Amino acid sequence: MCIGFFDSGIGGLSVLREALKLMPNENYIYYGDTDNSPYGIKTKEEVKELTFSAVEFLVKHDIKALVVACNTATSAAVRDLRQKYDFPVIGMEPAIKPAVEKNNGAQKRVLTLATPLTLKEEKFQSLVSRFDTGHIVDMLPAPKLVEFAERFIFSGSDVEAYLREILPADIDKYGTLVLGCTHFPLFKEVLTKIVPGMDIIDGNEGTVKYLYEVLKAGNKINTTEEKGKIIFYKSGTLVDDPALLENYRRILE
Ligand code: DGL
Repeated sequence: MCIGFFDSGIGGLSVLREALKLMPNENYIYYGDTDNSPYGIKTKEEVKELTFSAVEFLVKHDIKALVVACNTATSAAVRDLRQKYDFPVIGMEPAIKPAVEKNNGAQKRVLTLATPLTLKEEKFQSLVSRFDTGHIVDMLPAPKLVEFAERFIFSGSDVEAYLREILPADIDKYGTLVLGCTHFPLFKEVLTKIVPGMDIIDGNEGTVKYLYEVLKAGNKINTTEEKGKIIFYKSGTLVDDPALLENYRRILE
């Protein structure tokens, strides 16, 4: 059996990358719904429908757990997915809690970058109201980063110009940037260039550790000594284009 990964596109590869470090011997099936990407500017109902149809596809491939490696799809559908399926469904959660803990004492603010849908959804709003008691968390939608990523553009003048345009001029008042979209860790290098020294965090490692714990508790860890396999689907079509696979491989490494 394999572990299913799902995202609107290639962002979930940033989560799969962490999973491969911790569990290299598992088999993975990765589904990026690139035909329908981006999700972050759609309605909750649209995202829910697309997510359920992608998961139906993954279910046919006999998955033992599902990682919804997309903050937007997690906000829109994770609760209903858990009700429908009896395998573990692991979602994403922006790292608000650790960011607030770090910055409360330091008198700095926290800036969360995510998609418009994630930021307005109840899941994110209630996460913020639970942990941000000092009201230090601000939000910044950055939907264009998803478009750049889907074109495998992770640096260069267009990306830099976009980031400089959307990041607040008083960026120094922030102690931590929370990347609340799985596409965004792919821009960590360029972000570090634009805001040097800034603490930039995401929820990927935490998600994967949780996945490991859940598999372990269910006695579902693959105990073979061999390295696992990964198969990729792009909105229901098997990816066998060597150039595209090479792009994926570069992200995963
Ligand atoms: N990777 C996604 C997320 O984590 C969705 C990006 C999009 O399709 O807008 O939110």
